[in-house]
Amino acid sequence: MTGRYSLILILICLFAGQAFSQPDNTSKKVDALLAKMTLEEKIGQLNQYNGDWAATGPVTDDLRDKMKLISEGKIGSMLNINGVEKTRAFQEAAMKSRLKIPLLFGQDVIHGYHVTFPIPLAEAASWDMEAIEKSARVAAREAASGGIHWTFAPMVDIARDPRWGRVMEGAGEDPYLGSHIARARVRGFQGKGLGDLEAVMACAKHFAAYGAAIGGRDYNSVDMSLRTLWEFYLPPFKAALDAGVSTFMTSFNDLNGTPATANNYLMRDILKDKWKFKGFVVSDWGSVGEMIKHGYVKDNAEAAEAALNSGTDMDMESSSYVNHLARLVKEKKVSQENIDDAVRRILRKKFEMGLFDDPFRYSNADREKKTLNHPDHLEASRDMARKSIVLLKNERNILPLSKDLKSIALIGPLAKAEKDMKGFWTVELGQKNDVVTLHSGMQKQAGKTSLLYAEGCAINDTSKAGFAEALKVAASADVIVMAMGEAHDMTGEAKSKANIHLPGVQEELIKAVMATGKPVVVLLMSGRPMVFNWTADNVPAILYTWWLGSEGGNAIADVLFGKYNPAGKLPMTFPRSEGQIPIYYNYLNTGRPSMGDNDLFYRSAYIDLPNTPQYNFGHGLSYTSFKYSNLKLSKDSMGTRDKITVTFDLQNTGKYTGEEVVQLYIRDLVSQPVRPVKELKDFRKLSLKPGESRTLTFTLDASKLAFYNDELKQITQEGEFKLMIGSSSKDIRLDKSFFLTK
Ligand code: BGC
Repeated sequence: MTGRYSLILILICLFAGQAFSQPDNTSKKVDALLAKMTLEEKIGQLNQYNGDWAATGPVTDDLRDKMKLISEGKIGSMLNINGVEKTRAFQEAAMKSRLKIPLLFGQDVIHGYHVTFPIPLAEAASWDMEAIEKSARVAAREAASGGIHWTFAPMVDIARDPRWGRVMEGAGEDPYLGSHIARARVRGFQGKGLGDLEAVMACAKHFAAYGAAIGGRDYNSVDMSLRTLWEFYLPPFKAALDAGVSTFMTSFNDLNGTPATANNYLMRDILKDKWKFKGFVVSDWGSVGEMIKHGYVKDNAEAAEAALNSGTDMDMESSSYVNHLARLVKEKKVSQENIDDAVRRILRKKFEMGLFDDPFRYSNADREKKTLNHPDHLEASRDMARKSIVLLKNERNILPLSKDLKSIALIGPLAKAEKDMKGFWTVELGQKNDVVTLHSGMQKQAGKTSLLYAEGCAINDTSKAGFAEALKVAASADVIVMAMGEAHDMTGEAKSKANIHLPGVQEELIKAVMATGKPVVVLLMSGRPMVFNWTADNVPAILYTWWLGSEGGNAIADVLFGKYNPAGKLPMTFPRSEGQIPIYYNYLNTGRPSMGDNDLFYRSAYIDLPNTPQYNFGHGLSYTSFKYSNLKLSKDSMGTRDKITVTFDLQNTGKYTGEEVVQLYIRDLVSQPVRPVKELKDFRKLSLKPGESRTLTFTLDASKLAFYNDELKQITQEGEFKLMIGSSSKDIRLDKSFFLTK
């Protein structure tokens, strides 16, 4: 190397070394700003208030008061202010404050913004990470164009109790699938990264264990072993963090007696110390103040002290921080250092989003107009919706519907549903006629087949007055399609239910229609796993369509008429009765396992109900069939630093091109502590043409066999494992044993 080149190389190395050793530029900017701030201004940054629910409504007096507080530097973030016009007006108020620190606008963008996507639980049924990421991407693009910087999503709470109304918002019961989905959603929302105009900050919520509310009652206490917490409930949070999630939200529940909002173990020990989370934590709505009702603190001042000291950086709506922190600092109950740390975390995000360069960069009316409701977004929503549908049953291949039918009767209270098709947690922007109903979706694809219609009954009513008309319509049709299920406000926040049966007289209507002897297809639209035993046992074809969003009607029609071959798989176990709950596939075997439901003595079972669920985790059929064969392991034992390659063949043995979600489970046969009967450890979704065959490869390494011991350390233990590969957690097609050695 010539002297000249060596010199250049040395200079490059020096420069690079310097860049790496410097505190980053953003930290410098944050510190410089912090140095100028009064204590009151700092506390203002930790305070978040609500705008209003009716996004398009007038600016009320209450909002005018908030604008004044903003201009005094007493609010750092607003939620439920959306649209370019409104966010701009509020940001202008922030620009009147002494230091002109921009506001952050947060919003629950849970499954779409203007274009609504399927509810998150439905999307989870797709097991399709690319589609899920895209759904979040579209939601982010639209929300960001409407002035939003921050979505309170994804909800990554594991849920084993379908009575809990918020199951609709998560990814179901499994930590492995849930972790994949958490990552996909964070990637989708945050896109190219903060600062990009199509990215919003994501928020992993609700930290932690909110989904394990006792009895499935929303906001209820959670009592669980730390091992269960680490094993099942924390992994999706860690996955969100690894994907770069910007914020976390605390949960309403107490965890083993300590409210999550003041839970030092969760927020300091785990999140900020062990996991080294660099973003900020927002409380849930009013959850700082609610610690008084928990009986954890006596007043809002104590609540503020407990929450801030435990690591809750921003107070959503309780006013405890803004009213009490200054005094608490003077009394030395809250350290200046803790305040500064919380403020730094929030300012850093504002810098990363480029808001100090241009506080109005998200408020561009032109962009908003061009972005909202873009045809590509509708197409993505339709695609996601089709992928979310689960074919539970299809006897005699009733589906897809033949093109030669003379007439189809569409019956049921959800056939023309709009709001109910969108489901809970939508952003109301005052848009009209933005949902494709099932009726209009089917009408568009029915061709020469005539589409008859009758409502039959209401969603949740005792009246059977509509039955006669429905039966008349049914009698004159070749096939009957029934649109049954829940109203949009029957599953969601504060919508827990003790009775999760199909509501009202709907199942009676199904029985009456079945009595006509005609072929019947039942569609179930809902936010949660429901109980519908008679239907499950007697109706030949059932599609679980959840709440599918703006394009629901088109998507269902695509599936009914065979334009799309369904491939969804249940992300939650469906019980036969509420009495079986909690019910999940990854349970422990016990000393008296329920081997079969005939032998009920001395078995861990009910004497009045089979132990098995109605539908198993991972279940979902296709219009085609798949053959699994030729399972091979590269070796039958491996050391902890080793791996085993698993291969097998999958063949499409039916008549339609179709996708299969291949699932890989393991069981650790002898272990201390004991392990579940099955644990999902990998999956793959792939499409095969009729007759096509493909060899699939999975890799097993020790990380897939590791688990938490009583000291909460991840360990592996030598011994025999069973590997199972199948089409659901129940429908295992191939299995083999292997050994883990030292
Ligand atoms: C919910 C959160 C939500 C917040 C703001 C709370 O009631 O639990 O999930 O983000 O409200 O709307």
